[in-house]
Amino acid sequence: GTPVQPPQYRTLQSSDSPATSYDLGTTAESWKYFWHPVATVKEFRGHTHSGKGPMSTVLLGQRIVVAEMGGQIQAFDDKCPHRGASLGMGWIEGDNLRCRYHGWCFDSKGKCVDIPSLGEGDPIPARAKLQGYDCQVKYDLIWVRLKPGADTSIPHFPAWDDPEMTCIPGEPYLWPCSSGRRVANFIDVTHFAFGHQGTLGGPPHTRFKPYPITQLEGRLEFNVDTFLAFNPGDATYGPPSGPESVMLGPGAYHLIMPFTVVLFFKWSETRSTQIFMHPTPIDAENCRSYWFTCHTNDASPDQEHLALQSIVLTQDLPLVASHVPRSIGGPHEEISVPADKPEIIWRKWMRELARAADKGPETLSACLQEKAEY
Ligand code: FES
Ligand code: CO
Repeated sequence: GTPVQPPQYRTLQSSDSPATSYDLGTTAESWKYFWHPVATVKEFRGHTHSGKGPMSTVLLGQRIVVAEMGGQIQAFDDKCPHRGASLGMGWIEGDNLRCRYHGWCFDSKGKCVDIPSLGEGDPIPARAKLQGYDCQVKYDLIWVRLKPGADTSIPHFPAWDDPEMTCIPGEPYLWPCSSGRRVANFIDVTHFAFGHQGTLGGPPHTRFKPYPITQLEGRLEFNVDTFLAFNPGDATYGPPSGPESVMLGPGAYHLIMPFTVVLFFKWSETRSTQIFMHPTPIDAENCRSYWFTCHTNDASPDQEHLALQSIVLTQDLPLVASHVPRSIGGPHEEISVPADKPEIIWRKWMRELARAADKGPETLSACLQEKAEY
């Protein structure tokens, strides 16, 4: 059957959001040192007839253009140096990218190689160059890093290379909330009993301990106990009593700073699930999540796994979209309780990382290496 689509608020457009305060009062600059997916390879290939782009997108409030030039998918500032037109409206000619407005043409290094309006012998201005960015393809996603220099890498996703796991790519979804709001929602188990009542839990099972949290190189790890199952047969919560019961086994969360979550469930010795999720900051108040749901090889249809995610996302979207403000504010604007521990620790490290990034990429790299137990 047709895969179930996750909910979408609107289509991705160029950024004109006036909000510049990212999560916890940070700026876009801190998060430019990290890798973020900007498109799936599938979206990119299907975007133009050539299959090579160009394709415009927005990352951290900045419009960028992705194009395959010189045999490689590359990312540039989506701004023609002539008059600032979007190069995403242009086209690929061999290994070059031509602007649709006045036809200036750029090679795979971003250098302008043709200006059609120039007279015989007129030189191409030396400054006519595109600003390029680090760009890599991994997990069938196109990843971009706007600022080099810090010791950051594309997050590790174990299921991807595991021959015993089947990986199902999810359709990316754009939500009107910051990346931090999306991460906080994803690592929060205390909303299961309410926001996902009847799907992932329900009262009276509302209590979660402040589980221990380990801070390792660039990531936080914590485990939560077995979640209870909803048994539609007798409409109770508890250990699963029927095959249709929804039950999430003990969960392990890896929160790779700043915005990637890998969630591990172990249903039994032989059955496990991994979910990968990275909400890319489009701007301060919008994020686009790239994700996979993976499971140990079995005959289960993809549809079954995507349908569960779709239900959960449909329940989460209106709640997360309603948060005020749309990016996480200052420490005194909200009230937390001990069970909110994962988000509290993540927020603390986020502030430290942003302060470190202000001092430069070396300080940021050192801050990412700091270990702790909470
Ligand atoms: Fe691109 Fe003029 S704006 S060629
Ligand atoms: Co949820």
